[in-house]
Amino acid sequence: MTQPLTVVIFGASGDLTGRKLVPALFNLARKGRLPEEARILGVSRTEFSDEAFREQLSIKGKEAFKTSGEEWIESEWTTFAARIHYIPADVTKPGGMAPLQTWFDEHEGKAGGRRLYYLSVSPELYPQVAQALGESGFNKEQGGFRRLIVEKPFGHDLKTAQELNQSLHANFREDQLYRIDHYLGKETVQNILIFRFANTMFEPLWNYQYIDHVQITVAESGTVGKRGAYYDGSGVLRDMFQSHLLQVMALVAMESPTRYSADTLRNEKVKVLDSIKIHTPEEAGKNVVVGQYAGYRQEAGVPVDTKTPTFACVKLSIENSRWKNVPFYLRSGKGLKSRYSEIFIQFRCPPHLMFPLPPGEILQCNRMQLVLQPNEGIHLNFQTKVPEVDGVRLQPRDLSFDFKEAFATKTLPEAYERLLLDAIQGDASLFMRSDEIERAWEIMDPIIAATAGANAPQPQEYAIGSQGPECAEKMLGIEGRAWNPVG
Ligand code: BG6
Repeated sequence: MTQPLTVVIFGASGDLTGRKLVPALFNLARKGRLPEEARILGVSRTEFSDEAFREQLSIKGKEAFKTSGEEWIESEWTTFAARIHYIPADVTKPGGMAPLQTWFDEHEGKAGGRRLYYLSVSPELYPQVAQALGESGFNKEQGGFRRLIVEKPFGHDLKTAQELNQSLHANFREDQLYRIDHYLGKETVQNILIFRFANTMFEPLWNYQYIDHVQITVAESGTVGKRGAYYDGSGVLRDMFQSHLLQVMALVAMESPTRYSADTLRNEKVKVLDSIKIHTPEEAGKNVVVGQYAGYRQEAGVPVDTKTPTFACVKLSIENSRWKNVPFYLRSGKGLKSRYSEIFIQFRCPPHLMFPLPPGEILQCNRMQLVLQPNEGIHLNFQTKVPEVDGVRLQPRDLSFDFKEAFATKTLPEAYERLLLDAIQGDASLFMRSDEIERAWEIMDPIIAATAGANAPQPQEYAIGSQGPECAEKMLGIEGRAWNPVG
């Protein structure tokens, strides 16, 4: 007989549940991918009946579907919503887990069941909730697995991340822990591995001999909105670089794992992170520039004298034989021209050019863009001969692949669909291991320190809707390079 399966969401009244988690689970159910026996149990302090909770989720779900362009079919929702339950409880109080025990007894029966816990609570409560799960015996794998998904942010720096790992390990084994970085759930991010390791054409070029430098950009047009108070304690370096940008960089730079498994994949990522040079405080100051969008200090919840950056560029180097002397420039910011994320590979120039170029013109050497979002695709840019009978004139053109065009009958799934299904199936490949997280903080801590504190300069202001602050261009300009403009 199939064991019952429950996805328990702690912090279920929060935004993430309605905007991402439940729409993702609903989509999995519509696609026939969510096991039939799966139920969803929302837990938080707010009082809701099952019905009121479902109603609230349907409002948020409709908005999420509208944004993602999917069709909301009411009858499908009604069938799915019957699988959603809710318990009002403060699980951080003594005895707070008791109502859950009653629910499990009733719904799982004597044989017990499989449980996936999702921590969507405030990050400072992660240790307490994990502890409460342990104290109630909810971590014991009786009747099936017990897995714990932990949302980001995972710590505030190396020290707090280590403490958090220790406190989670007091109640859960590492293989029960699924630390989310939703960028790893994105199709285009996973496609980096397929592009590199399921093709022969590019991998021989993927090193210092052919690549001049790599740019990784995650640009957002949105500003902090209502998240000002949270965001100001974090800033772009913690919010985006420590997690998403370093994860993308690891996938771009790593060696091929022997097979696709959680251990082998994460071992290779850790090797790259281990090879990234940790900046001394002095070096850190020279390898980071920060900006703040005009008006940030007037946002709700943001102190008027804050130095928190909403934009940053960081230069990192990987000290191994593949990437020696190939700078990786990472850039991310809010309030920029558009929402645009890409990996930009600048290849080296031909050692000798036999074609004369018009005076003042320089050759645009080969480049490749792996566009992560939106307009997901891959563009390879090379020189062509402009058709003409007289002389030779060069012009760069693109060879392009567009995801939506190539897979017209398929919509790109939301990252959370993939990640939730993987966690249900016990595949931790796209989740972060404790050593990855800690090393990522070790890399970022000196860089963050260089931008904070009394002596740090005020981040350079940039206009909303722009390419970011001028200092970003200068950083590459002094090295004879330029950012590929945010699309
Ligand atoms: C989150 C950050 O992790 O990623 C947000 O906390 C950011 O500040 C978001 O807006 C970006 O994600 P996406 O999928 O919209 O690129």
